[in-house]
Amino acid sequence: MVLMKKEVLTFTTFGTILFVVLVGYWYLHLLQNDQHTQLNVATTEQSSINGQSAFAFFDSMKKYCNIPTQNNFNGREGHFEEEYGLLGVITIFRHGDRGPLVTVNDKIGTNCSLYVTERYKQLENYVRTYKSDLVVKLLPKSDFCIPGLLSKQGASQLIELGNGFKESYAKYFDFSDSNAVKHVSATTTPYSRTIQSIYSFLFGLVGSKTFLNINLQKKSDVTFCFKNCRCEAANRFEKLHKLELKNFFENESSLQNFSSQVQKILKKSEKSKKSILPSTLKDMILHYACHDQIPDCSVEEPICLNSTNIIPLDYYLKREAEVSSSGLNLKKAGILRVYGLLNNIDQQILSWINMSKKRKSKTLLNLPYFHFFSGHDLTLMYILASLRIYDGYLPHFASRLTFEILQKRSQYYLRILWNGLDVTKKICPSSLTYCNARILVNFLHTEMKRHFQTEEFLEACEV
Ligand SMILES: *[C@@H]1O[C@H](CO)[C@@H](O)[C@H](O)[C@H]1NC(C)=O
Ligand SMILES: *[C@@H]1O[C@H](CO)[C@@H](O)[C@H](O)[C@H]1NC(C)=O
Ligand SMILES: *[C@@H]1O[C@H](CO)[C@@H](O)[C@H](O)[C@H]1NC(C)=O
Ligand SMILES: *[C@@H]1O[C@H](CO)[C@@H](O)[C@H](O)[C@H]1NC(C)=O
Ligand SMILES: *[C@@H]1O[C@H](CO)[C@@H](O)[C@H](O)[C@H]1NC(C)=O
Repeated sequence: MVLMKKEVLTFTTFGTILFVVLVGYWYLHLLQNDQHTQLNVATTEQSSINGQSAFAFFDSMKKYCNIPTQNNFNGREGHFEEEYGLLGVITIFRHGDRGPLVTVNDKIGTNCSLYVTERYKQLENYVRTYKSDLVVKLLPKSDFCIPGLLSKQGASQLIELGNGFKESYAKYFDFSDSNAVKHVSATTTPYSRTIQSIYSFLFGLVGSKTFLNINLQKKSDVTFCFKNCRCEAANRFEKLHKLELKNFFENESSLQNFSSQVQKILKKSEKSKKSILPSTLKDMILHYACHDQIPDCSVEEPICLNSTNIIPLDYYLKREAEVSSSGLNLKKAGILRVYGLLNNIDQQILSWINMSKKRKSKTLLNLPYFHFFSGHDLTLMYILASLRIYDGYLPHFASRLTFEILQKRSQYYLRILWNGLDVTKKICPSSLTYCNARILVNFLHTEMKRHFQTEEFLEACEV
């Protein structure tokens, strides 16, 4: 209390707003962690200013975190007119919150379990009673962030998403029914963060009784490219896009200032040769911002988050987004990268339509099918770019793109949702209702012709 009073006095000249923010900042830390409180109270006036600006800055970064909250799902999935029937749903999502990919020299260790939900605790309790190593592997091990691994906060995001889907589609399918095993399937990349994400999601969706029995396939490529993976032209267009971004930021000196600091930290890692983009910095900073931790500027090799270094990041992210969303190279790379996946999804849709046509008899239940892809920000970025709806910001943790296959009499439609918002009209502006059910391949072929003067994948890859 005495220390706090002293600090408050030194700050009277900064005005009441700063005072309120600071008290809020201390209060937050008092609530969270005794060790941190000690650290902050002991710091000098200068680094308290750093702390204050970092706090405001973190607030501006929090919008990228997608902090998990219980029962707060407000996506428009499943919300379409009553005259349509639901044939199936295909969703591609990004894994949840993880430790940064680039190693952060983090001596204190960041507690990445601040925002775990009750449902996560239920999953943890359930898994504990299951005395199998295999099942235990389905959960994040540590409270702390570990580079590249899913955090408990990340698992919570997916559980809540799964639960949100369960409620959104309750009208069409009872996920707690034993039929769920036959109607739900999934595909994941082989990383532990995507595997843990899909199991968390399925736990939220179908519950503890069946989530381990859902048919899950692993695919080694980030883009789920199936038969159409190798593509030289895609690599080349992607390199061109990165070069475009690099050149764009070449002369941004305040970005360079921060980069030189980060560069020091990166020296030890293999990523050091890559140029630093605002989105790379964002990834590092979210490690702190999404877990309410402010890095300590006083330790050796710090990431010092203060106003000179970091406040303009939001501005640079916007610039990067403008370049990325308008870049033709990224769009071209995207089209070639998602060729395999969109064709696979189209085949899936086609087979569901075939099945529904065969099931004319009223005695057979016409229950919808669900397929989920557990992937990465890049997976989603390529699809969004190819469909021309990419806004240039890398999708946040647990982002989702959903395709709903709808039926009205003998017609089949596709409704498309990005993070819970209906974006069908952006993709099919001239349709009165929803897209044609085969829009994905039709769109793909039109775009292939436009950009590569061929509809053949192999030919386009040689362009
Ligand atoms: C991390 O934070 C959570 C929530 O405040 C707390 O329950 C947990 O004990 C913390 N873990 C560690 C290792 O400090
Ligand atoms: C960056 O600055 C250099 C030197 O001033 C200039 O030659 C170059 O064209 C600039 N690059 C961009 C992308 O503006
Ligand atoms: C970058 O750092 C240099 C000193 O290292 C400083 O003089 C300059 O003002 C900084 N530039 C920006 C835009 O912050
Ligand atoms: C921010 O930190 C850098 C060191 O990383 C320091 O040179 C600079 O003076 C600091 N700026 C402010 C406003 O504290
Ligand atoms: C769907 O049915 C059509 C026509 O009967 C057939 O050509 C096509 O191969 C079937 N597709 C799938 C994926 O079952």
